[in-house]
Amino acid sequence: MTSIVLNAKKEVGAVQLAEPILDIRNLNVGFARNRLIAIDALDLTVRRGEIVALVGESGSGKSMTALTAMRLLPVGAGIISGEVRVHGRDLLALPPSAMNAVRGREIAMLYQQPKIMLDPTATIGRQIAEPLQIHRGLSLKDAWPHVIEALRDVGIPEPERRAMSYAHQLSGGMAQRVMIAAALSASPDILIADEPTTALDVTVQAQILKLLVRKRDEASLAVLLITHDLMVVSAIADRVAVMYAGRIVEEGETRAVLRSPRHPYTQALLRSSLLAAEEDGRLYAIPGSASAARGLSCGCRYHPRCQAARSLGIEERCRSQEPSLSTASASPGHQSRCWGVQVTAGGMQ
Ligand SMILES: Nc1ncnc2c1ncn2[C@@H]1O[C@H](COP(=O)(O)OP(=O)(O)O)[C@@H](O)[C@H]1O
Ligand code: SF4
Ligand SMILES: [Mg+2]
Repeated sequence: MTSIVLNAKKEVGAVQLAEPILDIRNLNVGFARNRLIAIDALDLTVRRGEIVALVGESGSGKSMTALTAMRLLPVGAGIISGEVRVHGRDLLALPPSAMNAVRGREIAMLYQQPKIMLDPTATIGRQIAEPLQIHRGLSLKDAWPHVIEALRDVGIPEPERRAMSYAHQLSGGMAQRVMIAAALSASPDILIADEPTTALDVTVQAQILKLLVRKRDEASLAVLLITHDLMVVSAIADRVAVMYAGRIVEEGETRAVLRSPRHPYTQALLRSSLLAAEEDGRLYAIPGSASAARGLSCGCRYHPRCQAARSLGIEERCRSQEPSLSTASASPGHQSRCWGVQVTAGGMQ
């Protein structure tokens, strides 16, 4: 069951020159009621034609990042500061009506449970037509050929017949293909996919991932792929950003981060993933929980769970000072947020 080996990444360095499509800058998001900081000084860029994976344990802030970018935050959550730029324009500064015009047209989202997101009362054809009617001003009749083509494009057999189906008549894999067709029907430049294959079996998962790769390569789609699954990251992501307690703790080209993880949290995630289990047959469980690290006002958020801090004898520094992102290896853009990496690389300052 661990057989997702698409390995369909772009040549290393190929996407570095492409223009940024989604550019999140110093984003801070929290819940006033319990003073929880869900996203903490987040910087993240996705360029045209690249798949960037955002990974981390449950509760690390991945979905909140996606929902902030879509301006669909849950009740009680608020944006404290920061920018979410798409093509250089800050979406957080737009009035709600302008944001409605951006959703679906410039930025679109896929969810983990496609069947819940599909409207049970409308045919899937109508749901794929809707973005074309809103953003392109097409009538339903004029949109229909595009609907059929979009269904065919995502591999739905008998698209004319399927366009008249309802959500409950679709398998999970087919529903996710329909969601992709709907999300991409108005040709957005960036797709945010939040655990899009987690609810699917491995064979269907591989088909959906292959479809995302094809869209990246054929349509230069930028994809922010949110997942906790490093097998998926290894199969298709060009770059990866590792999130812990609302912060990015390591980022870089996928190969560099997965082959030479420098942050102790990334190393623990890898040890606990099926990628490592294939070698030793066992799954490692990371001691402690992510929520235990919350509420720290200073210092490294991973500190309460970090064994490296103890073995390097730098606990006091880790507890009291927040490390910044710094160069982690010779691979372009590979950075980690760890005193230990800085100590072993250049001696303690
Ligand atoms: N509706 C909500 N109300 C209160 N807290 C929330 C809500 N949604 C998310 N959170 C909190 O925000 C943090 C980030 O959650 P989330 O982005 O959903 O994590 P992930 O997607 O990485 O699993 C967690 O601590 C979570 O408990
Ligand atoms: S900064 Fe310290 S506590 Fe944080 S991950 Fe690095 S060694 Fe561990
Ligand atoms: Mg989530």
